[in-house]
Amino acid sequence: MNQITINGVAHTVGDEERALSLLEYLRERRFLTGTKNGCEKGLCGSCTVVVDGKALRSCRIPVEKALGASVVTIEGMEGPGGEPHPIQQAFMDAGAIQCGFCTPGMVMSAYALLLRDPDPSRDDIRKALKGNLCRCTGYQQIVDAVRLAAKVMREQALPVEAGCLPRR
Ligand code: FES
Ligand code: FES
Repeated sequence: MNQITINGVAHTVGDEERALSLLEYLRERRFLTGTKNGCEKGLCGSCTVVVDGKALRSCRIPVEKALGASVVTIEGMEGPGGEPHPIQQAFMDAGAIQCGFCTPGMVMSAYALLLRDPDPSRDDIRKALKGNLCRCTGYQQIVDAVRLAAKVMREQALPVEAGCLPRR
């Protein structure tokens, strides 16, 4: 197995790429630079992507370990017309973005949470996002944003996966 699926598109991983971290592979080989490199030590969560439904820090996973997996990055969240995913929209509506550096990782952690729980409590959200650091917002608005996204998707019967369409 030498393939990895990213945002619905299968890619062949070359032998010389197998030792790269998933973060390096996404940013430097696939040019998906929405996934941020904040520390490369597993400490900040800015590199979070969703691998087979779970939020993981891409700086800590060799791409070799993700072969055969399906990875969703922040670029895979938008809809077919480029519209933001309801989670992204809720971050904007709730004022949960300041400098924005942590936001892709926050959105991906929130996405993994909402895939398994469409109505998480504020505590559930804090737990799911505890590995994602933000230097700007104070976290309150981020929790508000995830609650808002969950509410919008429940009320409008939107599938959480709605934005994850094949793209290059
Ligand atoms: S860049 Fe991966 S946890 Fe900070
Ligand atoms: S918005 Fe700046 S680090 Fe979170």
